[in-house]
Amino acid sequence: MELAGHAALISGGASGLGRATAAALAGAGTKVALLDVNAAAAEAAANELGGVGLACDVTDAASTERAVAAARARHGPARIVVNCAGIGRAARIVERDGKPMPLAQFKQVVEVNLIGSFNLLRVAAAEMSVLDPLDDGERGVIILTASVAAYDGQIGQAAYSASKGGIVGLTLPAARELARHGVRVVAIAPGVFATPMLSGLPQAAQDSLAAGVPFPQRLGRPEEYAALALHICRNRMLNGEVIRLDGALRMPPR
Ligand SMILES: NC(=O)c1ccc[n+]([C@@H]2O[C@H](COP(=O)([O-])OP(=O)(O)OC[C@H]3O[C@@H](n4cnc5c(N)ncnc54)[C@H](O)[C@@H]3O)[C@@H](O)[C@H]2O)c1
Repeated sequence: MELAGHAALISGGASGLGRATAAALAGAGTKVALLDVNAAAAEAAANELGGVGLACDVTDAASTERAVAAARARHGPARIVVNCAGIGRAARIVERDGKPMPLAQFKQVVEVNLIGSFNLLRVAAAEMSVLDPLDDGERGVIILTASVAAYDGQIGQAAYSASKGGIVGLTLPAARELARHGVRVVAIAPGVFATPMLSGLPQAAQDSLAAGVPFPQRLGRPEEYAALALHICRNRMLNGEVIRLDGALRMPPR
């Protein structure tokens, strides 16, 4: 669909890939609402980009429904949704001291990355399904964010990889079901990108991640993720697919 004039919701819009996508969408004339658990950061980013920043915890049904309703009141119903809210927390299944990973840790990662994405998808899809159809009968597009860890999860990524594998598994059945409403669902599986999620790692770890990317041998730039997200919005034949965006990276076991 054309981007100008439509309303978009970007979860995790306060930082990293979500923020870059919100900036690119705003630059293309889309009305952007940044939904983030960090409300202050969402508002600050939205002020800079010319959008609206809203408090939203994607793991919470009521919080997400409230944020989507508030965005609708400001911009009208959203035809574009980009799910970038996520957390990454490395932990071994059996820690070096022999203790099992706390179950709450596994649950939290799946809760934010998988259940949170489904939560926004379900609310947004219901709203999109009753909108007037555009060209080709299209009503909306929902972008999910998986990860190459869904396929090549490393030691310590059991929870993260499982959550992202869930996103890969969700994409096709969601696209199939929502096809009758003219709503597309596409996922992006990024490799390693230079965002606050990675900048918490020591420089040596960041350098070694970058060195593992065949070409271009560097971390991805958030604008490169945003460029693909905008292309997905514009290209109606993209549907039900997970697209790796990784410079041919295949992660080793550790
Ligand atoms: N950076 C990478 O290399 C990389 C690689 C593969 C996949 N990803 C995925 O891309 C997405 C964006 O990651 P990023 O690198 O931009 O990270 P980031 O930490 O810069 O941004 C994530 C944002 O999500 C928000 N968030 C966290 N929990 C939330 C919740 N419960 N409700 C609403 N918002 C919440 C955070 O406040 C933050 O603003 C994540 O799903 C991540 O797993 C990132």
